[in-house]
Order: sequence, then structure tokens, then C-alpha cells
Amino acid sequence: MDTIINRQYDIAAGIAAPLELPRFSTYTICNLRGGIGKTSLAFNLAYLAGDVLAVDTCPQCNLSCFFDNNYVGNNGITAYDMLIPYFVPGLGKTIRGARSAEATNKFFDGHRAYFIQSDSRLYVLPSQITTALMQARATLGEQQAAIIDSMLYSLRDIISNEMRESGTTKCIIDTSPFFSGATHLAWHACDAMIVPVRTDQQSVNSLSLLLRTLSDSHSEFRKMLPTGGHTPKIQMVVLTHGAWSTSAGARNKPSRQTRIYLEKVFDIIRQNITHFTTHDPENHLMVLDDFLGTGRVSSVKSKPIMLLKKGESITENRVKSIVNDAVEKVQAQLSYIHSCLW
Ligand SMILES: Nc1ncnc2c1ncn2[C@@H]1O[C@H](COP(=O)(O)OP(=O)(O)OP(=O)(O)O)[C@@H](O)[C@H]1O
Ligand SMILES: [Mg+2]
Repeated sequence: MDTIINRQYDIAAGIAAPLELPRFSTYTICNLRGGIGKTSLAFNLAYLAGDVLAVDTCPQCNLSCFFDNNYVGNNGITAYDMLIPYFVPGLGKTIRGARSAEATNKFFDGHRAYFIQSDSRLYVLPSQITTALMQARATLGEQQAAIIDSMLYSLRDIISNEMRESGTTKCIIDTSPFFSGATHLAWHACDAMIVPVRTDQQSVNSLSLLLRTLSDSHSEFRKMLPTGGHTPKIQMVVLTHGAWSTSAGARNKPSRQTRIYLEKVFDIIRQNITHFTTHDPENHLMVLDDFLGTGRVSSVKSKPIMLLKKGESITENRVKSIVNDAVEKVQAQLSYIHSCLW
């Protein structure tokens, strides 16, 4: 624990040594709980990564909105359009559905970022997947396994085609808070996962639920796992909405509440270390401070946090939000998280 806390201090000071972690190309950001920072992390990491394909698999479309405020009216190809032909026979597959982020978000100029946008039809995908899998199971003969594999690996297939078409080498997938549907496919599509956990008990419970879904032989994930199919490992748990002591001389101390959740999450990581990408629990827990006003300015302007300056503000519905003084600390934390991924 002390290593983790001291490292946060070094991260803030910009002197933390990079962790010795394996590096992967595709990460899924997931935890089975809403409002914990999945989309904020996906957007800001996509900016830091560059040369990246960002995939929105959440029917709320928040990530799509960050890249293009007018995504609803643009009638563009969405993740749903690309996925559905794998589940409904007779529909032609769609290629080149990824869009350049710089065309609709000026902050991405020169970043070589592409995105696959989402739409609300992803809400009905879970039942369509279930029906298609049941029908495939009823298919006798040798073809059955191949049909099921093509469904479960549909998103992986789409991502590999789109990365080739766009010439990108990194991918980040944002998910909804629910497992069934596109999140399930995102687990099969990634090399490793990033799991945000907010400083509250429900988020910690969701981390445990995620780990059970990964490991329990009766879980929705494992029941369907194709023979020889790989189970993604977790690269990092990010404790979001972190807070640090404000008392004089105590800047290296997390607040009481943050410390309690750090300990709880660290224990869970230790007990489940086989699900992580290294054997050292200290490698897999980071804190990301509460964004406060910075988060509101970033989302209203669709502007990556790395580009925000202290004091920058926005007024929306007559409420003023200001980029707070701690923005540089958050920027250092985001950069460090990025340096542990690619
Ligand atoms: N450290 C932090 N990390 C991420 N988000 C933060 C943090 N601190 C504050 N926030 C705020 O918390 C909110 C998180 O929302 P976000 O949409 O990223 O969550 P989500 O997990 O994607 O939600 P949903 O499950 O509904 O898709 C945002 O308003 C963001 O600005
Ligand atoms: Mg989200």
C-alpha cells in the first residue's frame, strides 16, 4: 500500500518510474457500474494515445458525443450497424465505419484518432445476441462451433478490419455498465482490461462481480467461452474520484475515505492476482483524483483534460464551471496511466 501511495506522489511530481508491465494493443474499459469514469477515461486516453481507434459500445453514446456533438443527426455507420450482420443472416457486413476524430473535434488535429460511434439500438443487442446464439446451438454438426465463434469474436473482427483500414495501431473500447450485449463482445475483442472503480462501496462490489464473471464457470462469460478462447487479464484498476488530505504538511496522504477504498481494492487485487497481467498487486492500482470543475469544462467543451488550463471556465445554464487548481496533477496522473498501457 505504501508503495502505491508514494508512487502517487511521484506521479504528481512527474518523477515516477514507468511500471514494468506488458503492453497490449487493444484495451476494454469496463466495470459493471455506471457513472464511475469509464467514458471520461476512454476519451482522455484516446487523446494521449493518438494513432488510435476508439470504439463506443455503450448505447448512451457519451463517447460518440465527445468526438462529435452532432453524431445523432449524422446518419453515420455505428457499432450496431457493424455488429448486427454477425447475428442476423442475410445482412451485408459494413466496412470503413470508423470516422476521423479530427473532422468533428478540432482538439484532435494531428492526433490520428478514429472512432466508431454508437447508437441507442445497442440497447436491444443483448436479446438479439441471445436469440442468435440459441439458434446457433440448435444447429447440428461441425459448423456449430464456427458459427458461435464468429458471433462472439464479431467485435474483434470489426476492430481488426477497422484498424487495418485506418492504419491505427492502438484501440480503446468504452463499454456500458451492463455485461450482456456489446460489453460481452468487448471482453472477447480486447487483449486486456482497464477497470475504473469509484471511491464507493457499490463500485468495489462491481469489481468483485466483474472478477466473478471472469472466473466462475457458471458465469455468462465462461458458459459461452469457446474452447481455447482466451480470458482477458486486467492491466489496471483506476480508483477514480480520489481525494487527498488538505491539511498542512499532509499532501502525500490520501483522504480517509480514499485510503479505505484503496485498501479494499488492493485486497481484492491481491486475492485475484491471477486475473492480472503481472504477479505483483502493486503494479495494478492507480488513483485518479476527482476532476471536479475540470471534468465539467472538459465534457461541455469536448476538450481533452490535457489541453485545459487552470482557471479556464465555461458557463452552462447560468452555472459557471472552472478548471480547478489541481488540473496539472490530474494531467500527470492521466499521462502516467497512459504510459502504463502503450
Ligand atoms: N477521477 C475521475 N475519473 C473519471 N471521471 C471523473 C473523475 N472525477 C470526476 N469525474 C466525473 O465523473 C463523471 C463520470 O462520468 P463518465 O461518463 O465518465 O462515467 P461512466 O462510467 O462512463 O458512466 P456510464 O456507466 O453511465 O457510461 C464525469 O462527470 C466526470 O467528469
Ligand atoms: Mg460511459
